Amino acid sequence: MSSLAVVGLQWGDEGKGKIVDVLSEFYDIVVRFQGGSNAGHTVISDGTIHKFRILPTGAVRGKTVVIGNGVVVDPAILLDEIRSLESNNIPVDLVLSDRAHIITPYHIQIDGLLEETKGSSRVGTTKRGIGPTYADKISRVGLRICDLLGASRQDAWSRFEKITRLRVEQLYGKSLARPPTEVFGLLSEMINQLSPYVADAGLFLTTALNSGKRVLFEGAQGTLLDIDHGTYPYVTSSNCVSGAAATGAGVPPTLIERVLGITKAYVTRVGSGPFPTELTDDTGRLIQEQGGEFGTVTGRPRRCGWLDLVALKYATRLNGAELLAVTKVDVLSGLESVKVATAYEIDGTEVSSLPASSTELSRATPIYEELPGWERLSPREWRRLDSAGLDEMPPNLREYLSLIEKITGSKVAVVSTGPDRSDTLLVPGVSNALIDA
Ligand code: GDP
Ligand code: IMO
Ligand code: MG
Repeated sequence: MSSLAVVGLQWGDEGKGKIVDVLSEFYDIVVRFQGGSNAGHTVISDGTIHKFRILPTGAVRGKTVVIGNGVVVDPAILLDEIRSLESNNIPVDLVLSDRAHIITPYHIQIDGLLEETKGSSRVGTTKRGIGPTYADKISRVGLRICDLLGASRQDAWSRFEKITRLRVEQLYGKSLARPPTEVFGLLSEMINQLSPYVADAGLFLTTALNSGKRVLFEGAQGTLLDIDHGTYPYVTSSNCVSGAAATGAGVPPTLIERVLGITKAYVTRVGSGPFPTELTDDTGRLIQEQGGEFGTVTGRPRRCGWLDLVALKYATRLNGAELLAVTKVDVLSGLESVKVATAYEIDGTEVSSLPASSTELSRATPIYEELPGWERLSPREWRRLDSAGLDEMPPNLREYLSLIEKITGSKVAVVSTGPDRSDTLLVPGVSNALIDA
């Protein structure tokens, strides 16, 4: 086993950063293949907190990290992250795809303007310029890393000025926040600083995989935020499913051997959009508080709710996630009972699959199965159980995990019982597929 894609199965923030960090110990290279600085991935080791927006989290262990062509790059944020790690004596060994698209200050301005225009139907984006940058990419007018290096700069400049004026001045009737010459100069300077890292990342990865290197693909966002498969239009602007790892990293799909899907033991969502199992009562507030459910990027409170097995089954299938990591089981502990949605009722009909339409999903009432809860334990007790193995975990938690396995048809390979790297149970036997050479 030398390559693994790790993806979120919900609306993001499932704990991808933590799980990728745990597993990256066993890999040589960690790759981001989509999204941008809308992501906020947290790694905690021995109490030290690292938050990653654009660099793959493997950077914290000094692994080789790759930013693939499918990522949209805000060069200022990337340079900040590199400097911040290096000032903590962690050298950054980065390969940055020459084909990745660049987020400019205008994309960030347009992100805000578009949200304003939408009013009450706004997506609630992270306002990091993600959607407008992907829109320019698809419209074939975007600015790529390679465009700001060498002979392509002149072409890139004339396109940049025209498109920027068209988008901001003509479409929104707004004046440009800063003159294009100044912005283009600044971007060129930043890309120049990044130039030692720039390469054909797809070629680098394919060569590495073919020579036996072990590669971990780190998903951002989550399946329900996927532009095609998520709760459109309340989604992000990239494909977040495992299938995107190949196109976004520039490697053939045949080189991605296995998929690990990550789900919280409950569900959270930041931003707008349907959320059938959302809890707006004291239980929801309790989960929010115990789970520290506030956005890593924007600080916004995350909406919380019961685990939705209809959505989880859908996400597991789409990703081919035969193995699962279930995070934050400690957060649900201490509740007398917990619920999971096993179907929805929509307009009087029982439905057991996720509808395509968000309007329809917003009318879904969950049909719940109620299970007995598991006891509240101290972080120390959880750690003891992590080393003792699955059989020592509270029986009601084991029942809960079995139900997840039964409905999804996948196996739980990792159980996360706290935010620190060490608060992790790699299920003996099952998790071998994730870490064995
Ligand atoms: P990501 O975007 O999927 O990487 O997730 P985030 O880092 O945005 O959010 C997950 C949050 O939950 C972070 O604050 C993590 O430190 C924390 N976390 C991850 N796993 C666990 C866990 O098992 N228990 C608890 N209590 N916190 C966790
Ligand atoms: P990680 O990788 C949670 C959400 C935003 C908004 C929608 C579109 O940390 O799991 P965008 O800025 O992408 O155009 O916003 O997607 N969103 C996330 N929610 N975790 C994320 O990333 C997210 N990235 C985007 O809140 O609803
Ligand atoms: Mg996050």
